[in-house]
Amino acid sequence: MALGEELARSVLPQSGVVLLIGNLGAGKTTLAKGIAHGRGAAARDDVSSPTFTLIHEYGDPVTVYHIDLYRLEEERQVEALGLADLFDTNALVLVEWGERFPNFWPDHTKIRIESTGDEQRRISISELLVRPVSH
Ligand SMILES: Nc1ncnc2c1ncn2[C@@H]1O[C@H](COP(=O)(O)OP(=O)(O)OP(=O)(O)O)[C@@H](O)[C@H]1O
Ligand SMILES: [Mg+2]
Repeated sequence: MALGEELARSVLPQSGVVLLIGNLGAGKTTLAKGIAHGRGAAARDDVSSPTFTLIHEYGDPVTVYHIDLYRLEEERQVEALGLADLFDTNALVLVEWGERFPNFWPDHTKIRIESTGDEQRRISISELLVRPVSH
């Protein structure tokens, strides 16, 4: 959670897609909570898993979208959600299980979470996408 807050404040771009990649229970939603809180978009306890709702939005105006595609199986189902409309907004778009649809995303940042013990995780960032702030 603390790492998510720090990433939100100092490392992640203002907007764009961030894929949260990791096995079941790796800690994707927990990191998303930290990020949404770090952006000032939500209280930690107000961020919950969008496994059944598919997409949650935080902030007014929205600065963080949190998406969970676990229950979708085909790319055309992802296309039908209309997520492409979010890509050009000024919000960060956090996506769990998005790596299963690799052709769908524009340029994006990847955060990988690996479980290295019951209470231990290794978290790495690659392809960090930096965009100019739009006014
Ligand atoms: N960095 C961490 N260190 C230790 N435990 C963690 C960490 N992140 C999450 N956990 C614990 O791992 C469990 C699963 O966390 P979480 O729901 O965030 O995972 P997830 O990757 O979103 O799971 P799912 O694949 O079901 O969406 C929770 O019990 C959480 O407290
Ligand atoms: Mg989750």
